Amino acid sequence: MDNQNIRQQLQDAYQNRVAIRVYQDKKIPQEDLDTILDAAWLSPSSIGLEGWRFVVLENAAVKEAIKAVSWGAKSQLDTASHFILLIAEKNARYDSPSVYDSLVRRGISDSKALEARLKQYQIFQESDMEIADDERRLWDWTAKQTYIALGNMMTSAALLGIDSCPIEGFPYGKVNAILAEHGVIDSDKEGIASMLSLGYRLQNPKHPRQRKERKAVISTFN
Ligand SMILES: Cc1cc2nc3c(=O)[nH]c(=O)nc-3n(C[C@H](O)[C@H](O)[C@H](O)COP(=O)(O)O)c2cc1C
Repeated sequence: MDNQNIRQQLQDAYQNRVAIRVYQDKKIPQEDLDTILDAAWLSPSSIGLEGWRFVVLENAAVKEAIKAVSWGAKSQLDTASHFILLIAEKNARYDSPSVYDSLVRRGISDSKALEARLKQYQIFQESDMEIADDERRLWDWTAKQTYIALGNMMTSAALLGIDSCPIEGFPYGKVNAILAEHGVIDSDKEGIASMLSLGYRLQNPKHPRQRKERKAVISTFN
């Protein structure tokens, strides 16, 4: 496929993607779902940490419990073909096992090289990002990375003709408690960052999509 075709497909997908809150009673084929999940799995993360998990929520009791407290997800939990939880890791400090593991996973096994890289990450987290000694900032760091996976999943879905809606309209404390109670997460180690509904739109949105003018958000600084 040449670039002109690819550009057209991407443009069509961007134009067609809108946040969908009510879906048809129609299931996404497993191959399409797997491709969407691959987009999350293969998304980039800072220092290659992969401080995330993506859970396809099928459990009816957990869905009901989340629906009862989540203003931003109600009709979607009722009608979406699939519902994804984006889970982010807590306390991913430079001296945590998961940072160490991420280096080993990427083939850095020599002890001197490991030490040098961890020192570099310490400076990065302490002086550059100023997150190392603040649990909330460490959480924000991993949680915001899950939004890359969220975007990639939505664009992949749109290219496959599948609708979606990103969701953060829910009480984080309550949803974390529900997920922990049902054993979906270990709340000492991780928490919910956002959710994603997927399916096929029941109808087009009533109002045309509005955006700022392109030139108000896109510019070149020479
Ligand atoms: C991070 C994020 C969180 C969102 N949370 C919700 C939500 O909880 N419930 C909902 O119905 N829509 C939610 N939305 C959808 C937005 O309202 C929607 O994307 C925005 O109005 C732009 O419209 P469009 O996606 O149709 O272009 C969310 C969008 C983003 C990016």
